[in-house]
Amino acid sequence: MGPVVEVRSLKYSYPDGTEALKGVDFRLEAGEGVALLGANGSGKTTFALHLNGLLSGSGAVRICGMEVTPASLAAIRRKVGMVFQDADSQLFMPTVIEDVGFGLLNQGLAPEEVCERAQIALEQVGMVGTGSRAPHHLSAGEKRRVALAGILALDPEILVLDEPTTFLDPPGQRALSDLLRNLPQAKILITHDMPFALATCSRAVFFHDGSVAAEGPVEEIAARFGWGFAAR
Ligand SMILES: Nc1ncnc2c1ncn2[C@@H]1O[C@H](COP(=O)(O)OP(=O)(O)O)[C@@H](O)[C@H]1O
Ligand SMILES: [Mg+2]
Repeated sequence: MGPVVEVRSLKYSYPDGTEALKGVDFRLEAGEGVALLGANGSGKTTFALHLNGLLSGSGAVRICGMEVTPASLAAIRRKVGMVFQDADSQLFMPTVIEDVGFGLLNQGLAPEEVCERAQIALEQVGMVGTGSRAPHHLSAGEKRRVALAGILALDPEILVLDEPTTFLDPPGQRALSDLLRNLPQAKILITHDMPFALATCSRAVFFHDGSVAAEGPVEEIAARFGWGFAAR
């Protein structure tokens, strides 16, 4: 089986002329966990947004062998589950359970099954009992968890999480790394949290100024760029 994500020479400039990606090559194998590290503004989020076609630069992006094009977008988005850096942009239904079940309902599942799967996903992220609450009343960390539940409920092949431990309390961070470590999916985790990266990923890719500066074992890459535990 080939890689689940394969990116070649990806370049992207924002409309204001900012060159955010300057030729990125990247591969992710099935079931592999990779941490994307790098300074603020180095291009990590811009890169992630290409993986399900929210942005489209020059170069090639293939998901499970499928080129990301307007025609393949629907299929691509079933394969790639993305939790955004800003959970507010992901939550929009009146209640938590409706939000978590939204994608499943959209796929045409029966309401009872949607409800059941949404409850399981809420349990996975430690948010049991919040189904009837309004997402916009939740704390930032709780919103993060609900956004993740909505993605987990869809059971995508590849999970892309942008700074998922931000706003989570320490027990929440540990619970998230335990959960992710035990999920069979391939994972791309954008993070500045080295203990979290170490616990969940076998490899790190370090972004610098729109390019991949280095990749290798998480500890090695963190140490090389002074992002190890001592540096924190
Ligand atoms: N909507 C935008 N318009 C213009 N420039 C942007 C936009 N979003 C991000 N950028 C710029 O693109 C570069 C990469 O940003 P980003 O991918 O968000 O970095 P990271 O996620 O690594 O912090 C930065 O210079 C950032 O300022
Ligand atoms: Mg970012």
